Amino acid sequence: MKFYITTPIYYVNDKPHIGHAYSTFVCDALARYHRLKGDDVFFSTGTDENSQKNIEAMEALGEKNVIAYLDRMSEEWKRTWEDLGITNDGFIRTTEDRHRKAVERFWNAVKESGDIYKGTYEGLYCTGCEKFVSESDLENGKCPLHPNKEPEHVSEENYFFKLSNYRDALLKLYESDPEFIKPVARRNEIIRYVTDHLSDVSISRAATTISCGIPVPGDDSQRIYVWFDALINYLSVVGYGEDDERVKKWWPADLHVVGKDIIKFHCSLWPAMLMSAAQSDSLLKDRAVPHTVFAHGFFTINGQKISKSLGNVIDPRDLVPAYGIDAIRYFFLREITFGEDGDFSEERLKERYTSDLANTLGNLVQRAVSMSRRYFNNSVPEVDLIKAGASPNGSVWDGASGLASIEEAFDGYMDGARVDRALEVVWSQGEVKSSGIVQANKFVEETQPFKLVKTDAMKVGEILYALLESLRHYAWMIDPVMPDVSKKIIGAIGQDYETEKKRTLEALREWGGLQPGSELPEPKPIFPKL
Ligand code: MSP
Repeated sequence: MKFYITTPIYYVNDKPHIGHAYSTFVCDALARYHRLKGDDVFFSTGTDENSQKNIEAMEALGEKNVIAYLDRMSEEWKRTWEDLGITNDGFIRTTEDRHRKAVERFWNAVKESGDIYKGTYEGLYCTGCEKFVSESDLENGKCPLHPNKEPEHVSEENYFFKLSNYRDALLKLYESDPEFIKPVARRNEIIRYVTDHLSDVSISRAATTISCGIPVPGDDSQRIYVWFDALINYLSVVGYGEDDERVKKWWPADLHVVGKDIIKFHCSLWPAMLMSAAQSDSLLKDRAVPHTVFAHGFFTINGQKISKSLGNVIDPRDLVPAYGIDAIRYFFLREITFGEDGDFSEERLKERYTSDLANTLGNLVQRAVSMSRRYFNNSVPEVDLIKAGASPNGSVWDGASGLASIEEAFDGYMDGARVDRALEVVWSQGEVKSSGIVQANKFVEETQPFKLVKTDAMKVGEILYALLESLRHYAWMIDPVMPDVSKKIIGAIGQDYETEKKRTLEALREWGGLQPGSELPEPKPIFPKL
C-alpha cells in the first residue's frame, strides 16, 4: 500500500510557531505509523513563497533582497523540522523551478478545459489571508483574523476560474465520499458553503499591483494567484511537470492535513481545479481528487490567539531543552481532540509530562525492569508464556491477553488519523476500555509482586513477564508519536531497537517476542524530573 500525506506549505513571513508544529507533528506521527505498517510512504511539507505577505514581512525588517529573504526563511523552516525530528520525504518551495513547471502545466490544462476567462475584479483583498473577501467576511470593515490591517480595495482585470461550474460535481463528491472531508462538522460547513456561496474566483493579479508570483503562461502582465499556485505544490512535490511515473505512483494524495482556516481552499477550490485539469491532462484522469482532507482546530496559548502583536508566539524548539521532543509531540497529539480547537499552556504540558509520562509510563518501565532484575538475576523471568498472558484462560493478567484488542482499536484510530484517540487507548483512558498502561500500573498495585515474591516467586515471574511483554507492545504502539521513548523502552527490556524495527508489525505484535531469560540492562530514567 502507498500512503501519501501532506502538511500545508507554510508562509515564510515568520518562523514556525507551535500551531504550525502541530500540523507537522500530526503528519509525522501518521507517516511513521504507516511506515511501521510496511506501507510505502511519501510525506511532504514545504514553504509557500509567492505571497505578498512574505514580501511585506521582509520590508518590515528593512530588507530588499527578496531571494535572500526567501532562501533564509525557507531554510529556517526546513531546519526547524529537522531539529524536531520530522521525517518528511519531500520539501517543496514554490519558488523552485520544478514547481513553476508544474503550475504552468496545470494552468494550461485548466485553460484547455475552458475554465479560465478574463474578467474585472472589483472588491476587497485581505493580504493576511491572501484572499478576496466580501463585506460579509468582515467585522466592522476588518478581517476578523487580521484586524490590524484593513483589506485593500482592488479593481483590476484578472483571469477567473469557473469554480461555479463545479458546484454539482463537488456536492456529488461530498455526498458519495464521506471520507473526503473530515471531521463531519467541517464537511457540513463546506456543503453549506458550496451550496449557497460558490462563485467563480479570480486566479491572477496584475503584475503591476503585486511584486511576486508565477507569471501567467502567455501573459506576462499577470501573476498567478498565490493559492492557485500553492495548492499545486501537492502535485509538484511528487513530480508533476517533470516525472509522470512518480505522479502515477503517488497521486492522488491519501491525506491532506490542514487547519480549519484553509478548508475552503482545500475542499472546494482544489478538487474543482483538479477535476478541471483532469479533463485535459490524461495524467490526472481517473486519479483526480485526494482521498481525505482532515481539518484540525486552532491552538490558543493560555486562552489567547497566537499572534505576533500579542507577543505570545512560542517557537516549539524553545520547549525542547526542558521536556524533550517526544514529550512535546505526545502533549500536542494527546491534549487536543483532533479536529477541535485546543489550548496550550506550559502548566498543562508539565502536568501531562508528570502524570502520563513520568509517573505512569516511566514508572511502569522502572518497576517492571527493576523487579525483574532484582528477583530474576538481572533477566527476563523464565516462565510459561501461556500462563504469563498468552491466553485469556489461565493467564496471570487479562490485560496481557487483551493486548490484541488494544492494538486493533489503536490501528482503527490511527487509520482514521485520530492519533489523540489512539493514545487514549494505550493509556486506558478512551471510550474503548483497554488494559493499557494505566491498568498495568494498577495491576502491579493489586498483585504487589514485591510482597508476593516471598511466597510465590513463580507467579511473580509470570506477572513481571506479562508486564515486560506488554511494555514491548506499548512501545511499538507509541513509536510513531514518541520514537525516542519507544527506543528507550525497547532498550530497557533488553532488545535492540533497530533490529526489532526491521520486523513486520504483525511479527512485533505476536505474544512472546521478549525472550524469557534474556538479559535486562540496568534501567535509566526515561523521563527525568522536571
Ligand atoms: N500557505 C498557506 C497554506 C497553503 S497549503 C497549499 C497557509 N500557511 S500558514 O503558514 O498561514 O498556515 C499553515 C498551517 O498552519 C495552516 O494549516 C494553519 O491552519 C496552521 N496554523 C496556523 N496557526 C495555527 C494555530 N494557532 N493553531 C493550529 N494551527 C494553526 O495557510
